[in-house]
Amino acid sequence: MTYAKEFFDLQLHFARSVAELRGMPLEEALLDYTNLYVRFVADRRFDRDHPIWSAYLAGLREKVDPGDWTYHFYRSRPHHVQPASTIKTFGCFSYALGEPGQIRLHFHNADGHLQGPLSEERMPSRLSELTSLVHHVRLQRGTAKQIAGVSWLYNLTAYRRLFPESYTAAATVATNRFRNMPLWGQFLNRHGGVRKDAASLFVHRLHDQTSADDLARCFPLHPLAVSAPIDAFHEFYAQESTIEFDR
Ligand SMILES: CC(C)(COP(=O)(O)OP(=O)(O)OC[C@H]1O[C@@H](n2cnc3c(N)ncnc32)[C@H](O)[C@@H]1OP(=O)(O)O)[C@@H](O)C(=O)NCCC(=O)NCCS
Repeated sequence: MTYAKEFFDLQLHFARSVAELRGMPLEEALLDYTNLYVRFVADRRFDRDHPIWSAYLAGLREKVDPGDWTYHFYRSRPHHVQPASTIKTFGCFSYALGEPGQIRLHFHNADGHLQGPLSEERMPSRLSELTSLVHHVRLQRGTAKQIAGVSWLYNLTAYRRLFPESYTAAATVATNRFRNMPLWGQFLNRHGGVRKDAASLFVHRLHDQTSADDLARCFPLHPLAVSAPIDAFHEFYAQESTIEFDR
């Protein structure tokens, strides 16, 4: 899936406003307050001297239209939807290792069906992917006792219903995620286009922002940090499959 140009325009717009409000160079704002580095370089080191990042900035200094150049640069790079740290993928879900004893859950849309990947119709497929993931982790990663995640998605009932209640019950707002998809992903729809309502609310709030404090309030949804013991998932998916069987 290729993300739309508007997704990048939105981030350029944010970086320009942050540079102005913070009195910082635009190049720094692009590195620290957008998802561009991750999209172009595909690592999480945020190395300002990385040759790929330097090539992007060099072009930005020369080109007449920063939006066109940014999108052209994105289209010229391999499209990585998942972090390099990903261990294994099960449909729309994948996991990476987190802190000791923990795995980190990721979501990306790998579902080509007409209905949305989080729709009720596609729920059995999502539950089945998560059941396989949890089964795999219990078998292959015996030391992993906890599943954790950070995402804007945990605000959505359509996403939360895929997990045991205890996983999202004590969700806390994850701050300073300006470089990451757990924040920026809320502007995308399943086709890689921009969600117009979310984007226009964001632009309005950014326009009204007069200080560099609490820039996160411009975003319609905050990323939430969640976690629960892996056994809670195991029990939940065992129950779900019984319910499915009984239907
Ligand atoms: C997650 C994603 C597939 C949702 O796209 P979508 O086209 O809205 O997909 P669905 O229709 O299945 O969405 C399910 C529901 O969530 C709602 N929803 C999706 N994004 C929303 C948003 N930003 N704000 C409010 N509600 C939202 C939809 O309206 C829908 O609700 P409904 O069933 O009541 O209509 C899309 O945003 C995406 O691919 N994002 C990038 C990946 C990402 O963010 N990954 C997480 C990184 S941690």
